[in-house]
Amino acid sequence: MTYTKILGTGRYLPENTISNNDLKQFVDTNDEWIFTRTGIKQRHISTGETTLDLAYQASLKAIKAANIKASEIDIIIVATVTSDYAFPGVANLLQAKLGISNIMAFDINAACSGFLYAMQIADKMIKSKAYHKALIVGAETLSRLTDWRDRNTCVLFGDGAGAMIIGTSNYNHIKDIITGSKGDEEMLLYCKNPDLKSIEENLVSPQDHIHMNGKEVFKFATRMMPKTLNELLERNNHEISDLNYIVAHQANSRIIQKAAKDLNIDMDKMYINIDQYGNTSAASVPIAIDEAIEKGYIKKGNLFATVAFGGGLTWASALIEY
Ligand SMILES: CC(C)(COP(=O)(O)OP(=O)(O)OC[C@H]1O[C@@H](n2cnc3c(N)ncnc32)[C@H](O)[C@@H]1OP(=O)(O)O)[C@@H](O)C(=O)NCCC(=O)NCCS
Repeated sequence: MTYTKILGTGRYLPENTISNNDLKQFVDTNDEWIFTRTGIKQRHISTGETTLDLAYQASLKAIKAANIKASEIDIIIVATVTSDYAFPGVANLLQAKLGISNIMAFDINAACSGFLYAMQIADKMIKSKAYHKALIVGAETLSRLTDWRDRNTCVLFGDGAGAMIIGTSNYNHIKDIITGSKGDEEMLLYCKNPDLKSIEENLVSPQDHIHMNGKEVFKFATRMMPKTLNELLERNNHEISDLNYIVAHQANSRIIQKAAKDLNIDMDKMYINIDQYGNTSAASVPIAIDEAIEKGYIKKGNLFATVAFGGGLTWASALIEY
């Protein structure tokens, strides 16, 4: 039987930060409102670095932490909603930048659940024995889709990237991954692509911004996080108390607090870094896992769960013994 494990992780954030007070220049807001409603203090916003650049820097760190050569990677999956080009994908350009040839590389879009979707695909491909070492990345420059005049959304998002190498193992470390989706017919969270073109006019369409029904997304998130985690634990015969740690998607600290309350788990076991980064969509989970490992919240042999939700609407969770 082929099993899988995490071989190494890495993260990269653009240097430039924008504080809550800085946002007052653009919208009618204040630090107190943003922090009490979301837990956010600042976000990193790229000034010229592309999604590829962020993905590349995070990948170099993950490759180093895994102590492997880039040439050992045989599949690359990048989860993103902010690919620099409609095509080629970030994964393809990342492959070239890392100097790896002739392997499978592609992007996926499952919004903020994207990294765990990528993990599930890579995990299953390795377990099928067709592949051996996967580079999975969540990378976003959400600032390019942000409406800087909409205070309901612009205060929430940030740029960043997280990467992970997963590979074969004799022991069952990556135990289970759940992914799910419910088509967002009500358009609670969306960003439209360029309009269909009229052949006669052949106009260049402007890029749309992120639109969100915050209250409904909040309800969805607080319902789905405990639900998917409970399902994950139940089908693996574990109790919540067996978990040493939980790394949740960082969308709002109040969402994480509500989930912790409903799961009856102490907030000490829930990772929080939203104060520093805001919501970085697909990058949020791998950035948080990398930091939780670095800070010693997740140690070798610990059982941890990770959980995400997002546009789509999508959700995902994974049970991992580090
Ligand atoms: C967005 C969110 C923080 C808003 O919090 P909320 O408590 O629901 O706040 P409301 O939308 O009810 O807004 C309350 C008031 O604050 C105002 N407000 C909104 N944004 C503001 C801001 N940045 N600064 C100051 N006031 C703001 C609203 O206009 C509203 O004013 P009104 O009552 O005069 O109309 C919250 O709904 C949320 O986090 N939703 C989930 C978002 C999410 O997770 N998205 C990503 C999914 S991956």
